[in-house]
Amino acid sequence: MNPFREDLVARSKAEPCTIVIFGATGDLTHRKLIPALYNLAADGELPTGIQIVGFARRDKSDEEFREGLANINEKVSRSGVDEEVWKPFIQSVVYHRSEFTDSEGYGRLAQLLDRIDEGRGGRGNRLFYIASAPEFFDDILLHLKQAGLNKARDGCWSRVIVEKPFGTDLKTAHHLNEVVNATFEEKDTYRIDHYLGKETAQNLMVLRFANAIFEPLWNSKHIDHVQITCSENLGMEGGRGAYYDGAGALRDMVQNHLLQLLALVAMEPPTDLSADGVRDEKVKVLRSLRHWDTPEKVAKNVVRAQYTAGHVDGEPVPGYREEDRVDPESRTEAYVALRLMIDTWRWSGVPFYIRMGKRLPKKSTEISVHFKDAPCVLFNTGCDGSAGDNVLVIRIQPDEGISLRMVSKIPGNSLRLEPVKMDFHYATSFGKASPEAYERLLLDAMAGDATLFARRDEVEEAWRFIDHIQHAWHQSKNPPPIAEFVAGSWGPVEADALLQEDDNQWRRL
Ligand code: BG6
Repeated sequence: MNPFREDLVARSKAEPCTIVIFGATGDLTHRKLIPALYNLAADGELPTGIQIVGFARRDKSDEEFREGLANINEKVSRSGVDEEVWKPFIQSVVYHRSEFTDSEGYGRLAQLLDRIDEGRGGRGNRLFYIASAPEFFDDILLHLKQAGLNKARDGCWSRVIVEKPFGTDLKTAHHLNEVVNATFEEKDTYRIDHYLGKETAQNLMVLRFANAIFEPLWNSKHIDHVQITCSENLGMEGGRGAYYDGAGALRDMVQNHLLQLLALVAMEPPTDLSADGVRDEKVKVLRSLRHWDTPEKVAKNVVRAQYTAGHVDGEPVPGYREEDRVDPESRTEAYVALRLMIDTWRWSGVPFYIRMGKRLPKKSTEISVHFKDAPCVLFNTGCDGSAGDNVLVIRIQPDEGISLRMVSKIPGNSLRLEPVKMDFHYATSFGKASPEAYERLLLDAMAGDATLFARRDEVEEAWRFIDHIQHAWHQSKNPPPIAEFVAGSWGPVEADALLQEDDNQWRRL
């Protein structure tokens, strides 16, 4: 069957339901979830009959909750707010006040959901979205079970979406998985990783498997190395330091988003496009990562760093340890660069480099695939042994697109060569902005399609790899040092040295 058609069928399968958001007064609900649901409504993609229940601890009436959401809608909708859409949309939102640990509050929630279902003739699907602070995840799940809300009514479904962070190490992730799976079946569990919902991340599989030209080259014979860069210009604005200083770049972004991107780049073609077909292949990549399981290996393959005061976008910014709500003695990394090796036939000997940092010069996420050079016979290209000029760049954001760099002759009578770029921009080719990741993911959860959500084994495999590094940094007798870089620069010299050891260099973004 034509995959494009199949997708249309999947999208139309999003079913009416009640969405209960735990942590509804938090930042994520305001910045991402409500705007995503509104945008779906504006595009006519939200199934009719959706009801949204905001569950949180603060005292508020329905009206006050709605007003709080209305204040932010101008900023966040994709195409401005259409009052005709907003008015009925916001009327479908109600507020439910309760402590996360109060059984009685869940009893009242069950009654509220029953009343909503009555309006639908006694039927009702339920989507529980856990977006609270992570310390409440267990409590929420246990209380949902106690109140019987995890059980679907006949012919209906009950699903759960769990936000990040999914644990802080393998042990806590395993524990959380146990609690989740004791409450909801794995098929009803949606561990969200919003990077998987980004348009370009989804397009990675299409690029690789719908075009016959790339796959024959997609291996150690032709690829020299791969770089995955996620740079952010923001630091710890808005009190974010309180969470971030306890997490760090490795846990905040590498364990989840960036290892997921790596898995999409490196996986074998799945046998089909089913959720498990795709996730089976991704987890094999994670399982094949060579573990840096001694402090020496960590020191050789991983660089961590903090920024010192500098300038970003022409504005002075503080150093990491001077940031709001960051410990002045903090040893948390706000930048990390890693060399990863995937021990499979396909990738034997091909380094994958990941770097992620706050307070770098600009916001940009991209994957670059660096091909080996043409033989050094005719045109003197690649004669220094470094990676060649053929680079395939997949821009995840902003300016989503794909470009291919190749060598060309400069017009003229002499034979001079120069790299040129073939460039595809989503915005110009398709003439419209890509939907926000949360839109696609919410729709998929309503349709019962878990392809773009992380499965239990993926999350645990990723932690298994990350845990060794955390251990070397925080528990070994000789922890590798923390490097420094000036805010607004492209990271520490130690990260440059990491690539130079392999005769490579970071791509200039
Ligand atoms: C979040 C991290 O998961 O992703 C943040 O906690 C990070 O630290 C954010 O800034 C990046 O998301 P995006 O979609 O803006 O690239």
